[in-house]
Amino acid sequence: MDPPQHEIIVVRSLRQECYDVRIDVFHHEQKFPLDTEIDDLDPTATHILLRLVPSLKSVGTIRCTKHAGYYKLSRLAVLKDYRQYRFGRALVLALHDHVKRDAKRSGQHDPVTIKCHSQIPGEEFDEEGAPHQLMVARLPLSD
Ligand SMILES: CC(C)(COP(=O)(O)OP(=O)(O)OC[C@H]1O[C@@H](n2cnc3c(N)ncnc32)[C@H](O)[C@@H]1OP(=O)(O)O)[C@@H](O)C(=O)NCCC(=O)NCCS
Repeated sequence: MDPPQHEIIVVRSLRQECYDVRIDVFHHEQKFPLDTEIDDLDPTATHILLRLVPSLKSVGTIRCTKHAGYYKLSRLAVLKDYRQYRFGRALVLALHDHVKRDAKRSGQHDPVTIKCHSQIPGEEFDEEGAPHQLMVARLPLSD
């Protein structure tokens, strides 16, 4: 099925919209604690929001943080009713674009590294009580 019309934006003033999607998915749906959902990384992170147009309903988000030698992808969430439209994939690609822009601007090594601790239905390691696995992408900065 075709996805509903939407836009993906790197936000500044709409950060609360991203938090609201995360609270819905990670706390209400997945039962992670509310008090650790918004953490120390959030104030300085880059937040990306996917919202429907023209309604401007927020349905997805992803977060990017910058660390020594790599970037980290976290808090990827799409509201349950809007899954399987490739919005998750679109958010990851939007984060890749943001990382490439930032890495070029700040003169980082090529290729740039993006790490992610992704949830899996297995036993690999535990993060906030759920099994996760480390994923690493190395992106060339040239197109
Ligand atoms: C993970 C999530 C963001 C994916 O959103 P989505 O918009 O449905 O994903 P897409 O439609 O872009 O799916 C892309 C691919 O990933 C797969 N996929 C989606 N969710 C998945 C999951 N939880 N585990 C494994 N694969 C998944 C899809 O089947 C699809 O694969 P395909 O190309 O073979 O069909 C969404 O399911 C979600 O918010 N889940 C709850 C929160 C969560 O688990 N976040 C990740 C934290 S690490």
